[in-house]
Amino acid sequence: MNIIINKDYEAMSEKAADFIAEYIAKKPDTLLCIAGGETPMGIFRYLVKYANEGKIDFSSCKFVSLDEWVGLGRETRGSCKETLYNNFFDLIPVKEEQICFFDGLADNMENECRKVDKFISDHGNLDLIVLGIGMNGHIGFNEPNVPLDTECHIVGLDPVTKEVSVKYFDTALDVKQGISLGMKTITRADTILLIADDFRKADIVVKTIEGEKTSEVPSSLFQDFPKLWFFLDEAAASKL
Ligand code: GLP
Repeated sequence: MNIIINKDYEAMSEKAADFIAEYIAKKPDTLLCIAGGETPMGIFRYLVKYANEGKIDFSSCKFVSLDEWVGLGRETRGSCKETLYNNFFDLIPVKEEQICFFDGLADNMENECRKVDKFISDHGNLDLIVLGIGMNGHIGFNEPNVPLDTECHIVGLDPVTKEVSVKYFDTALDVKQGISLGMKTITRADTILLIADDFRKADIVVKTIEGEKTSEVPSSLFQDFPKLWFFLDEAAASKL
């Protein structure tokens, strides 16, 4: 694990976006996965800026979703799909066929899992994945005590995740399940970027980097990964 501590959220976002831009410049047909949630918002801003300035070319890339709240679609503010489309896909020149996203409203969630698994396996593996960290160390919706041998799957949400979820939505929503790429798929990615900012993430950052490597804290499972870059701001790194 390579740890990169930046002064603040803005610097962290810019550096992580630069890393992504350099990766895509070297591998134009990158299969890229970026988490939803609050943390990547700054990265989206920089990537959109770079795309509009012609500094990054997404035309040969493919994009796949990391996770989604079961029961929520794009029309719900705070769903992963709404976040990714409104802050990224709709703002860059990209065609719909380049994107494969979980439909949280689908009748058959198992089919959604297989759809996304196939999109990834048709490409080979994920190239670059950008991951936030939940307050309990979850990765995507791979909650504490996650099985490691999973591809896309449906997950019962941890109480911490349900509690934190209210920050994303306009009204309280009774979300019980998530759909997520599994740890097997994620850990097979060529390169992983982890991102965390703010003091509220400082404890989980310590557990991720310095704690016991355990599936109770899914993010700690990345400790021995050589091709993983952990971008932090000084606040999130303040307890290391
Ligand atoms: C959410 C999502 C993750 C996200 C993580 C951190 O619940 N399932 O994909 O990366 O938790 O979210 P945030 O960036 O809002 O702190």
